[in-house]
Amino acid sequence: MSYATLQNITELSASRWQEQAKDPRTAQLMSSLVRHLHEFARENALSMEEWFEATEWLSRTGQITNDTRKEFILLSDVLGLSMMLELLHDSKPDEATQNTLLGPFYIPGSPEIPYGGRLPGIGDDDGIPLILSGTVRGLDGEPIAGATIDVWQNDHTGIYEAQMPEGSPVLCRAIQHSRDDGSYMFRTVMPVDYSIPTDGPVGELFAKTDISDVRPAHIHFKVGAEGHPTLVTHIFDRQSTRLESDPVFGARDGLLVDFIEQEAGTAPNGDAIDRPYRVATLDFALV
Ligand SMILES: [Fe+2]
Repeated sequence: MSYATLQNITELSASRWQEQAKDPRTAQLMSSLVRHLHEFARENALSMEEWFEATEWLSRTGQITNDTRKEFILLSDVLGLSMMLELLHDSKPDEATQNTLLGPFYIPGSPEIPYGGRLPGIGDDDGIPLILSGTVRGLDGEPIAGATIDVWQNDHTGIYEAQMPEGSPVLCRAIQHSRDDGSYMFRTVMPVDYSIPTDGPVGELFAKTDISDVRPAHIHFKVGAEGHPTLVTHIFDRQSTRLESDPVFGARDGLLVDFIEQEAGTAPNGDAIDRPYRVATLDFALV
């Protein structure tokens, strides 16, 4: 029998997890995690005080997390891990619309809106009106009818519904199904730059740095159709100056869109808009 020493503790622990896990994947992940964690601690001569502080910090990360506040996802995002995993598993051809992060603010089960309809919670006078339209296609260029386009974004004040108190009305999220020719169209407002939540443990860390907590404005999509893997992505204003400093590394080539200004008048969805508004075209190419 061997007891732990500084020299053998890493191997003792890693092989225990390797040999006594009930399935090969748990064995692999846990033994590798042990080796990397031990190496991190050795390399940085991690003190007991620092590790205790870290465990307290992890506890707070769990305590602030609930159905709508996802601090661990946020942590994964700001560490670049979420986006790294997206890229690691990204085997899409260039012509496909690229995936990017789901983010912490997705709420499933949004209400359905018709073609040309408006996202719930947006009034006539709110923000800069935006008409977004396009076509859902397969890589062969054929339109996809009945694709589910699940959209969510912040409103003109920078708030996502997921940040509102529980029981708040639906805000800036909806589902639309593409028409027979693959087309979709809806009215929304221009999304705005916003800060990731900084009132929790991730914010505590950011306060020790000069890292920007401001995400460039964007609109999220989850697009699904039978026979196609679901696309999770979001689109950005090509003019934004914050694309490269995005704290969650979400911006990618191919997801930048032109929001083109229009004079007041009848919008493409038939709405009379009494002030300048924007239009944007966005086609989805599903694998
Ligand atoms: Fe977002």
